[in-house]
Amino acid sequence: MTALITRVLTAGNSDPAGPPIHENNTWLIGDEAEVVVIDPAHDANAVLAVVGDRRVVAVLITHGHWDHIRKAAELGHRVGVTPRMHPADAFLWREELGDEPFDELADGAVVEVAGTGLKARHTPGHTPGSTSILADDLGAVFTGDTLFPGGPGATRWDYSSFDTIIESLEGLFTLPDDTVVHPGHGDSTTIGTEAPHLEEWIERGW
Ligand SMILES: [Fe+2]
Repeated sequence: MTALITRVLTAGNSDPAGPPIHENNTWLIGDEAEVVVIDPAHDANAVLAVVGDRRVVAVLITHGHWDHIRKAAELGHRVGVTPRMHPADAFLWREELGDEPFDELADGAVVEVAGTGLKARHTPGHTPGSTSILADDLGAVFTGDTLFPGGPGATRWDYSSFDTIIESLEGLFTLPDDTVVHPGHGDSTTIGTEAPHLEEWIERGW
């Protein structure tokens, strides 16, 4: 069986008493025996319900923003895996998860699951450590908050860079046009749908 991609939608709020207004996509890639989890987001139970009795090979983090990582440590403990993230986002991890450990997810790192290689590509700009996960065999890329339908992710923080995220997008746009883009929020798109708009995005500046 080839690897399948599954989306788990979870929601939460930075204020625990507030309504669950932030929706995130958690992505699972795997077969009936093993699975990789990308961005556990808001609800470890919801993710583990979809994992079922499969072995979790790795927990990969696209970037250190709270909504993507808040259940990463809990999920990792429950399945016996240390989450992996680019170390340039360590400062964001510490804000949300304190001294909980993570392992490095370096540019070019490859994780094998269900006969498929998942390759980390450092795509900074939204955050310094933002990383996309390429699944070439599946014709898919998991972009976190780096690329959405209609443009790049926000670069409004001091540690963000619009110029840098545009460079990251130029790299992603060398992928085949039919590559499916699975972002950290909302709907999926394709490289071929988004790439023609890069100049518009540069001109508008966001
Ligand atoms: Fe983000």
